[in-house]
Amino acid sequence: MNTPTPSFPLNAWYAAAYDVDVGRALLPRTVCKQKMVLHRTAAGQIAALEDACWQRLVPLSMGRLEGDEVVCGYHGLVYNAQGRCTQMPSQETLNPSACVRAFPVVERHRLAWVWPGDPARADPALIPDMHWNDDPAWAGDGKMIRVHCDYRLVVDNLMDLTHETFVHGCSIGKRAVAEAPFVATHGERSATVTRWMDNIDAPPFWAGQIRHARGYTGKVDRWQIIRFDAQCTVNIDVGVAEAGGGAVPRGDDPGDRSRGVNGYVLNTITPETDRTCLYFWAFARNYCLGEQRLTHELREGVAGIFREDELVLEAQQRAMDEHPDREFHNLNIDAGALWARRLIDAMVARERPATPVIPIRRAA
Ligand code: FES
Ligand SMILES: [Fe+2]
Repeated sequence: MNTPTPSFPLNAWYAAAYDVDVGRALLPRTVCKQKMVLHRTAAGQIAALEDACWQRLVPLSMGRLEGDEVVCGYHGLVYNAQGRCTQMPSQETLNPSACVRAFPVVERHRLAWVWPGDPARADPALIPDMHWNDDPAWAGDGKMIRVHCDYRLVVDNLMDLTHETFVHGCSIGKRAVAEAPFVATHGERSATVTRWMDNIDAPPFWAGQIRHARGYTGKVDRWQIIRFDAQCTVNIDVGVAEAGGGAVPRGDDPGDRSRGVNGYVLNTITPETDRTCLYFWAFARNYCLGEQRLTHELREGVAGIFREDELVLEAQQRAMDEHPDREFHNLNIDAGALWARRLIDAMVARERPATPVIPIRRAA
């Protein structure tokens, strides 16, 4: 029987939660079909244990936290942050095999990253760069949403912002996005789509930002530089600047954006199952840093925009499930998404067990 090809690699860092959501309580999460339970120790470290008790598999997340230990809510087995059982009811000798899996966890850029694959390969250097989330030169905030679709549909959505014109016409969408040319490039672990729109009317969202931050109301040069980093992070450098003010890069000159407003849309997507994912996003800006009210307004505004995406993506997943025999058709605008998918597929393929070679016998 053929085993269906998994859609995600296990040997990768995945965001499991925003830092503020992991505290002195048990937080259940599913990452790549693996159930885990997270908590923060008194010393502030995050632990992630398999969410199934060694004795009878009851989810540990139904139990309670006592000090830095998790107590199963069924018969009271106690586990430390490394997953080792430290107490059993009615017996003094502990069975040495009594432990649950502890997943590698690293807290970075305001997110708790877990590694569901081989712990020996969990190199923190592979965590995607999302430093804008906690860099003092940037201000912003974000949210997590659960989307009922294959996580790769979210990647497709972010890699092609042509959809802004049609899905987000009331806020960031403008015909210029769908009409502007773009350049798609790729490396071994990344793919980039760059689009500049020179001398255009700013869409309502950006018109409001540059007016508020710089008092400017004229035409703008607008950019969108989308970067996918394997496994499933998409950071988008976005903004507008005074038209003709030097923001557009020319040759070796990277351009001067000082007469503009710059934001980063930071996205990382974690597959829960083949049909659901956790989508962590944030919007960080480099202007009006001290305005907490603006941070709040932007977060809520972006949440509304992403709600529009969520409706489309979930409808797309339903349609795919209704027509499992139908294939996608690709256009020029899908170049970035195709590169992202190739990089994901390559990571998945590297984890597939090698097909055993069956020796061919010569006829006697
Ligand atoms: S199932 Fe956990 S202690 Fe019995
Ligand atoms: Fe969108």
